[in-house]
Amino acid sequence: MVRRPTNEPSWYKDAVVYEVHVRAFRDSNGDGIGDLPGLTERLDYLQDLGVTAVWLLPFYPSPLRDDGYDIADYRNVHPAYGTLRDFRRFLREAHRRRLHVITEVVINHTSDQHPWFQRARRAPAGSPERDYYVWSDTPDRYAGARVIFEDAETSNWAWDPLAGAYYWHRFFSHQPDLNYDNPAVAKAIQSIADFWLDMGVDGLRLDAVPYLYEREGTNCENLPETHAILQRLRSHLDHRFPDRMFLAEANQWPEDAIAYFGDGNECHMAFHFPLMPRIFMGLRMENRFPIIDILEQTPPIPESAQWGLFLRNHDELTLEMVTDEERDYMYRHYARDRRARLNLGIRHRLAPLLGNDRRQIELVNALLLSLPGTPFLYYGDEIGMGDNIYLGDRNGVRTPMQWSSDRNAGFSQGNPQRLYLPVITDPEYHYETVNVEAQARNSSSLLWWMRNMLALRRRHPVFGRGTIEFLHPDNERVLAYLRRGEGEVVLVVTNLSRHSQYVELDLSEFAGIRPLELFGQQEFPAIGKLPYLLTLGPHGYLWLSLVAGRPGGQPPSVEAGKRITLPGASETAFHDPVRHDLELALARYLPTRPWFGHPGRALREVILQDVIPLGRRLPDTYLILLEADYLQGESDWFLVPLSFAFGEDADDVRHHQPELIVAEVVEEDLRGIAFDAAGWPPCVTTLVEMIRQRKGQSGEEGAVGFQAATGMPPPATPRDPEVEVSDNPDGHTTVAVAGRYVLKLYRRLELGVNPDLEVRLFLTEQPRQEAVEVECRCLGDVAGRETGVGHHHHRDQ
Ligand code: GLC
Ligand code: CA
Repeated sequence: MVRRPTNEPSWYKDAVVYEVHVRAFRDSNGDGIGDLPGLTERLDYLQDLGVTAVWLLPFYPSPLRDDGYDIADYRNVHPAYGTLRDFRRFLREAHRRRLHVITEVVINHTSDQHPWFQRARRAPAGSPERDYYVWSDTPDRYAGARVIFEDAETSNWAWDPLAGAYYWHRFFSHQPDLNYDNPAVAKAIQSIADFWLDMGVDGLRLDAVPYLYEREGTNCENLPETHAILQRLRSHLDHRFPDRMFLAEANQWPEDAIAYFGDGNECHMAFHFPLMPRIFMGLRMENRFPIIDILEQTPPIPESAQWGLFLRNHDELTLEMVTDEERDYMYRHYARDRRARLNLGIRHRLAPLLGNDRRQIELVNALLLSLPGTPFLYYGDEIGMGDNIYLGDRNGVRTPMQWSSDRNAGFSQGNPQRLYLPVITDPEYHYETVNVEAQARNSSSLLWWMRNMLALRRRHPVFGRGTIEFLHPDNERVLAYLRRGEGEVVLVVTNLSRHSQYVELDLSEFAGIRPLELFGQQEFPAIGKLPYLLTLGPHGYLWLSLVAGRPGGQPPSVEAGKRITLPGASETAFHDPVRHDLELALARYLPTRPWFGHPGRALREVILQDVIPLGRRLPDTYLILLEADYLQGESDWFLVPLSFAFGEDADDVRHHQPELIVAEVVEEDLRGIAFDAAGWPPCVTTLVEMIRQRKGQSGEEGAVGFQAATGMPPPATPRDPEVEVSDNPDGHTTVAVAGRYVLKLYRRLELGVNPDLEVRLFLTEQPRQEAVEVECRCLGDVAGRETGVGHHHHRDQ
């Protein structure tokens, strides 16, 4: 059985997809070409970024004259990228991280090197083998079809001397179109799709889907026969693989594009091509009209269908779905340099298109993430990578991913001259400054902004699933819309202008509600009967949650005094269903502690994500890792050392520190408690001893490991020392032990090594520093990220 990331069949509606080319991401063996093992190695990066799905461009054997869209073998991996085994491993690792995987089936054409074509050109005219492709004795048929790659081709027909006939191609002449009038073709494509779906791929992008059939007297696009074939593919998919997805690449006007959803019986998703250029137009015109206009022209789609939204991808920014005037406007404003134009489009990445203006980059991404549909990000745009318009075709937007300022941007260990394409060295976008490593260190970077935005979006399914309703304030430079659904209403307000703007919105329907600004969790003034006034800075944007009767910080909780019955020893508290009772008790406990630090933030639930027993060192004591999920905003992670005590120990806590009791428990006829043991001397000394001895301990999913500075002296404290505990609203607890040690325990965990921890560790490297500092790390597979848990500080006397 293939393990799937979720059981939700409409997972694609909540997805954020990252488009990546295997050859551009990471080269694991130094041959200058990115490969599947390299990509697998970087899955953690994608998980940290917060995307939920990965779309791979074609990675099959190919002469690579169209970067792999010219497929020579549909059931294998290009040797430069690895093997089928590498692909299976990639898929497994992606699924383990709950990332869906979307791959490509190019159904319209193959490479002229594909054995089908080689066989066809040699087979007798009229034979089934020859009929895998579309042949003609003259280049005049189907004259109504436009040439798509107009910079490279002049006709859709090419002469084959061996066959002594012309063959049909909608793209490059080395990409002959398959002939769907031959039933064997559809069967063959079906079985190729099954091959990858059987392996566990979650979605298939169907490339160039409008062009499957040719009919005289038409433009040979969107023909009824094409839709009939798609319906057959879909019904087979629903039957055999109900939780998978088809994504149509149909560069068409909205009414033609929606036809690819059928009645919910063709593709699940289709890209919204016409919206994309209009986002850029609205921005340059400083007017919301183009965006609203195209979305209002977009008919409603079937329940199971979803638009794919994007700003940029691996192709030129296509301007096929705009009028001639609009295209001129786009060229004038976004492609002054003629070399930036290609076919009917512009070959720039996002950052260079927008003049590397951070505000505009944020604004268009904020639209991408809040308009109805599933957003697609293009690799490298999350760090604002540049492009190179001097490379041919679309290669300028397909250069190596910039990981660090090392050789080849950290993409490859190989000889720089061997790289499949040169790295970006334009002074403004040079990989020495624009790279993942540098941006990961700077929390004001674009990368961090993207991570935060993606985390925020994940918390609000309304963006993927809700309806949209535009508001029409007088100020046309402001685009405002309501997203409703999934029990939420979010108001998005965006200033398309480079100057500050104010706007008055009719929100009388929401009178009495105090909008909550989602980025900073700030409450705004209550909405009244009069128009609601908002001001926005240049290219500013606001996401405001409008929820009636927003709960005032009352977490779900157990009834006061409810006892948790343990079926056996203390570890049974973590087995279902008792575990859930414990979670409820923790949901009541957390907000009472100073280090929780979020007065007034309403908890949705607390999830016990990991349990690490201290084992024989200290029985009945566990380090537990909790995820606190709020009604609004990102979740937090907390660490609680939890101990179970009965008899005298329990009475002691009841007497002196009742506020630390998490739950009353019963085991057989014993009455006891579960309590927060952070300041409990036996727990403190055990932790200090574990740190000193660098003893790790593993839990359900992750582990805790300790790294002690060398020369840390033994604690030499009695087993029951005097301790002084102070809880801190910054999210930690400090415990001073017998005036000799300070143990600082991070309660609220930051993802990544705690910055505070890093600073202190650095200090200890100075000679003659008095303090001996220790780093402890908690590695959780659920969090999937490294987390600083705490440190220990020794004072020499
Ligand atoms: C699709 C791909 C493009 C490719 C073309 C022909 O449009 O996105 O990259 O060149 O199909 O295969
Ligand atoms: Ca390689």
